[in-house]
Amino acid sequence: MIVLGIETSCDETAAAIVTDEGKVLSNVVLSQIESHKPYGGIVPEVAARAHMETTDAVVARAMDDAGLGFEQIDAVAATGGPGLIGGVIVGVMTAKAIALGQNIPFIAVNHLEGHALTARLTGKVEFPYLLLLVSGGHCQLLVVKGVGDYARLGTTIDDALGEAFDKSAKVLGLDYPGGPAIEKLAKNGDPARFPLPRPMKGRPGCDFSFSGLKAAVKRSVDALPPGPLKEKDVADMAASFQQAASECINDRSKNAIAMFKQSHPGGSHLVVAGGVAANKALRGGLEELASQTQMTLIAPPPALCTDNAAMIAWAGVEKIKNGDASGLDFAPRPRWPLDPDAPRAVGAGVKA
Ligand code: KG4
Ligand code: ZN
Repeated sequence: MIVLGIETSCDETAAAIVTDEGKVLSNVVLSQIESHKPYGGIVPEVAARAHMETTDAVVARAMDDAGLGFEQIDAVAATGGPGLIGGVIVGVMTAKAIALGQNIPFIAVNHLEGHALTARLTGKVEFPYLLLLVSGGHCQLLVVKGVGDYARLGTTIDDALGEAFDKSAKVLGLDYPGGPAIEKLAKNGDPARFPLPRPMKGRPGCDFSFSGLKAAVKRSVDALPPGPLKEKDVADMAASFQQAASECINDRSKNAIAMFKQSHPGGSHLVVAGGVAANKALRGGLEELASQTQMTLIAPPPALCTDNAAMIAWAGVEKIKNGDASGLDFAPRPRWPLDPDAPRAVGAGVKA
C-alpha cells in the first residue's frame, strides 16, 4: 500500500509518500519561516495564503521525488486538525480532490496522532507506550494504547514548551523559531548563571506549567545592566532556560512513568515526539531518566520530530489498517484533542 500524506496545519507546507512497510519514498517540507519572521511569530492569515499558493507544487514535488503518478497511490491522508484552520482547509480540500479524482480513500489525520505514531514508522515500537508530546502548541504526557486510543495523564496548564522556547528566544533578541536558536547558544552558556524557577517540580501528577519560567527569563533579562545584551548573557540565559526546562520535563515524566507502569505493567517504552523533541539536551536528560526507571527512550530523528507529512502519511497507513478511512464530508477541526475524555488540568485556562 502506498499513501500520500499532506500537512498544512501550521507554518510548513509538506507532502510525503510512505508505504505500509514504513518506507519513506519522498518527504518534502516547505517552510514559511521567512514570511513570518518580520512578525516574530506565525500569522494565521499569512500561513493560509502561503499554503494555498504552494500546496499543489509541494504535492507534485513529492510525487516526482518518489517517481510515482497519482494512479499508483492507494490512499491520501491529510491533517484534519488541530491547527490554524485556513491551512487545514487547504490541505484537506487538496487531499479530497485527489481522492475523488482517483477514487481512492481519504483519511483525515489528527496532527497530534501523526506525531504520536512516528515512533512506529521509524522504530516499530509496540503498543502500549508512554508518549511525551512536546511541540509549539502542545505539551502532554499520554499513554498510547492503540491507533485512536489515548489516555492523557497530564498537559500544560498554560504555555506549551515550544512556545516558552520561542518567547524566551524573542526576549533574547533571537529569531523565530526560538528552539533551535536556544539549543545552539546554550552549548556555550553557563546553565547555573541565572536561577530560574522549575514550575510544578516536586508536585504530584504530571501537568506542566511554563509561563512562570518564560516570565522569569524576561525579569532576569530586564535586570541586566542597560544596553544591548552581551553574547555571554544570551548564551548563559539560553543554557539556564534549557536546563530548567529539561528538569521540569524530567520531573513530570518521572511521575508519568510511575503511573504508566502501574496501569500497564508490561509497557517499557518512553517515546518523545513533536518539534521540541529535536532538542538534544532534553533528549539527553530523558535518556538518563529512562535508564534510571528501566524504560527505553525512543526519539525519532529530528527531521521527523518537527512538522512533516511523512508522519501524516504513516498515521494514514495505520488508520487504514484499522479500518478508519474518513468520508468526503469530513469537516476540518481547529481543535481535536487526542483524549476527549481527559479531565481538565488543574488551573488550566483556555488551552488543553
Ligand atoms: O511540532 P512542531 O514542528 O510544530 C507544532 O506542531 O507546534 O514544533 C515547533 C516547535 C517550535 O516551538 C520550535 O521552537 C520547537 O518546536 N523546536 C525546538 C527545537 N526545534 C524545534 N525546541 C527546542 N529545541 C529544538 N532543537
Ligand atoms: Zn506538530
